Amino acid sequence: MPLKRKIQELKKKREEVQMGGGEKAIEKQMAMGKLTARERILSILDEDSFNEYDLFVEHDARDFNMDKKKLHGDGVIIGTGTIDYCPVCIFAQDFTVAGGSLGSMHARKITKIMDHALKMKMPLIGINDSGGARIQEGVNSLAGYGEIFFRNTISSGVIPQISVILGPCAGGAVYSPALTDFVFVVDNISKMFITGPEVIKTVIGEEISMEELGGARVQSEMTGNAHFFAENEKDCFEQIKSLLSFIPPNNDKKSKVYAPKDPKPEFKVENIVPGDPTQPYDIRNVIRGLVDNSDFFEVQELWASNMVIGFGRMNGETVGFVCNQPLVLAGVLDVDSSDKAARFIRYCDSFNIPIVTLVDLPGYLPGVDQEHAGVIRHGAKVLYAYSEATVPKVTVIVRKAYGGGYIAMGSRHLRADFVFAWPSAEIAVMGPEGAANIIFRKEITTAEDPEKMRKQKVKEYKEKFANPYVAAAKGYIDSVIEPEETRKVLLHCIDVSKQKQISMPRKKHGIPPF
Ligand code: HXC
Repeated sequence: MPLKRKIQELKKKREEVQMGGGEKAIEKQMAMGKLTARERILSILDEDSFNEYDLFVEHDARDFNMDKKKLHGDGVIIGTGTIDYCPVCIFAQDFTVAGGSLGSMHARKITKIMDHALKMKMPLIGINDSGGARIQEGVNSLAGYGEIFFRNTISSGVIPQISVILGPCAGGAVYSPALTDFVFVVDNISKMFITGPEVIKTVIGEEISMEELGGARVQSEMTGNAHFFAENEKDCFEQIKSLLSFIPPNNDKKSKVYAPKDPKPEFKVENIVPGDPTQPYDIRNVIRGLVDNSDFFEVQELWASNMVIGFGRMNGETVGFVCNQPLVLAGVLDVDSSDKAARFIRYCDSFNIPIVTLVDLPGYLPGVDQEHAGVIRHGAKVLYAYSEATVPKVTVIVRKAYGGGYIAMGSRHLRADFVFAWPSAEIAVMGPEGAANIIFRKEITTAEDPEKMRKQKVKEYKEKFANPYVAAAKGYIDSVIEPEETRKVLLHCIDVSKQKQISMPRKKHGIPPF
């Protein structure tokens, strides 16, 4: 056969396979407001940059009449491409082909691109739209997921792994994302659960919709499984590109450096924080007053909002921010906010991103609920993460730093490299009201006018402890600075920390309070 005919044949074969589950299934997919797997890949990647592999892979299942079924590409597309000219590996499950379910060849395609990503040290983006393990393939599909989970784990901390949930994802299709660094969800489209509504109805007899069980809002606001919430797929892809602009492609390389830009004048930090320590304010505006162009890219914005984490740039280079949020629960540390901060600190540490901590919190949240939910174990994760992190760590105490909160939030004692305090800082074992009631109880209860005595003792306590100078006198903080000096001081500290090197005691790995 002449080569031209062979080329024609190849083109025809390609077209046929690229139709995935066929016209009807694609129409169904579109009716749900979803793009096809191929459209998704092409929308995320730079134009004309996609190189596909394993297009002609076929499944090898024989049971349950599977030998009579053709599953194009075995329900997943894999390849390499670029985003903003940076190379990435990508896969997208195709729900139009057997519900994107994962059989052994489907898994082999995914693990092939995962191996490639690790070998070449490129970010991996996985678009998940799958009913989970392909039921007809039994243990072979389970084995496939095991292979994926193993690779997710060994790649962790070496290359960024990004998961996008773009359909009803069940079982393994959500456990793999849970092992990755960042999970993106889209309103009305993403659903994540281990067992779907049908199984729940059969086993427990409860009826619940997919949306209520594990929709995008549930995963962003309640469980913390998702890191980024998008209104639609296009918005989601833009958010992925923004994230990639902040993070390095692997643990050996630095993030891309951008031209430095001053923060916008409307975010003058001195005007953002109220003098009265009981008044709330949005810590994100302080961050915006410190970072280049006031551009702060928040992570897990909708979950555990008493803690704010995310990326910004200082002098064009990426910095990770870990900050209490006085707007929500006065910025306390609790079970969820501890998990949120600890994981992010470890992410920044793995990828050599300096950490800036802004402190304003009354301590750990007291209460039976928190104690029983394991605030000891979860809170300890923050202590562990800060102590273990060897990247440059700079801490600024903005207002309150009480009790365990003072120690946990990047204190000198957990080896912050630089610690500063604003003149508004209050550093003590606990807040003045609570402290006075405890240590001056006798004087207050036996006084002629207990309320007057209480106020006087609170005032005495405030004068003694509710300031940064006791800590400054001990050298626990390096300097008391004016709010407007903060950006300059941070830029300097990050600059002089570039050669930081720390050697830890020899060990296989630590045992964090997971
Ligand atoms: C084989 C599957 C499948 C699966 C869906 N399909 N899930 N085929 N194995 N796991 C097929 C359907 O048979 C159907 O094929 C097509 O995909 C579309 O599915 P629908 O049910 O019509 O779609 P929808 O109504 O949107 O519901 C989607 C769904 C539901 C919620 C995902 O299909 C579902 O509950 N599937 C099973 C989920 C599950 O329990 N998976 C196993 C998890 S255990 P046709 O031919 O009709 O188009 C697991 C093990 C790993 O993953 C655990 C790791 C810890």
